[in-house]
Amino acid sequence: MKRIAVLTSGGDAAGMNAAIRAVVRTAIDKGWETFGVCEGFDGLLNSNFKPLGARDVGGIINRGGTVLGSARCQEFTTSDAQQQGIRNLESKGISGLVVIGGNGSQTGSNALSQSGFPVVGVASTIDNDLYGSDITLGVDTALNIALESIDRLRTTASSLNRAFFVEIMGRDCGYLALTAGIVGGAEAIVIPEAETTPEQVADELRHARDHGKCHAIVVVAEGAKHDTNELRRYFEANQKQFGYEVRATVLGHVQRGGVPSAFDRMLGSRFGAAATECFSRNEFGVLVGLLGSEVRTTPLTEVAANKKELDLRLLELAQVLAK
Ligand code: F6P
Repeated sequence: MKRIAVLTSGGDAAGMNAAIRAVVRTAIDKGWETFGVCEGFDGLLNSNFKPLGARDVGGIINRGGTVLGSARCQEFTTSDAQQQGIRNLESKGISGLVVIGGNGSQTGSNALSQSGFPVVGVASTIDNDLYGSDITLGVDTALNIALESIDRLRTTASSLNRAFFVEIMGRDCGYLALTAGIVGGAEAIVIPEAETTPEQVADELRHARDHGKCHAIVVVAEGAKHDTNELRRYFEANQKQFGYEVRATVLGHVQRGGVPSAFDRMLGSRFGAAATECFSRNEFGVLVGLLGSEVRTTPLTEVAANKKELDLRLLELAQVLAK
């Protein structure tokens, strides 16, 4: 009988549990056994494994985070640690590993795969910065949380004639901020991929005020060159000339928490099942992702070597729609 393992690594993302459930139940359907590796690559190094049956993954599809736990494991970047991880898997008779995670995690997957161990990655990060998947697991839920927050902030902003700077997660990638800004109707969006100076944001705010808006929402990606603190300081110092009082809200980890959306539950289910299917046709060293509307695989070597580009036409669209 075949035995596979599954782990979640890096920042948790809504939908990871749906993916774990799908890996396990697809494996059961094939007559295989699944082990869960607790706390990501840390657990791989310490042989922190547990068997997962159908009932162990019951009632988790609706839960945020990851029931296996996760970690950011610096040690796993070394070849010694990777070899130890492979020995630990082999000593349990495990012949395949599913790694659910983002960029750093799939770099680890690629290293294991280059060492000859069969690995299949599942594209999962709220940042949506992973090559090989148009949308990654957790993005939809995080985006909806950001959107709800922006909607709420606009209510209070309009009541008091205020400008709000709303900082959105995403590490060095502006995808979440850009899309949240568009769907939230932001007056300005500041992302790492396109430098926007405080003076340019000031122009947008003046335009909003001159066109009778009694609020202004400026969405700022956490990785932007001119960050929330800098922008807030600039506008506080020049408050009078913009006509808005200024406030700042950092959404932070709120975006990673909570109940997964229907989209992320579906994506996790499709990704997890597809990952297990890869092992049945001996397809390893690949990432399972969504390309167009299809679940497809991309070699991990390609994933590691390429950077996903943000579609900057969306920023142009945002600027037109903000007028
Ligand atoms: O990669 C996901 C992410 O949430 C980023 O958006 C953010 O920069 C980072 O993780 C935060 O990391 P941590 O949870 O380790 O503080």
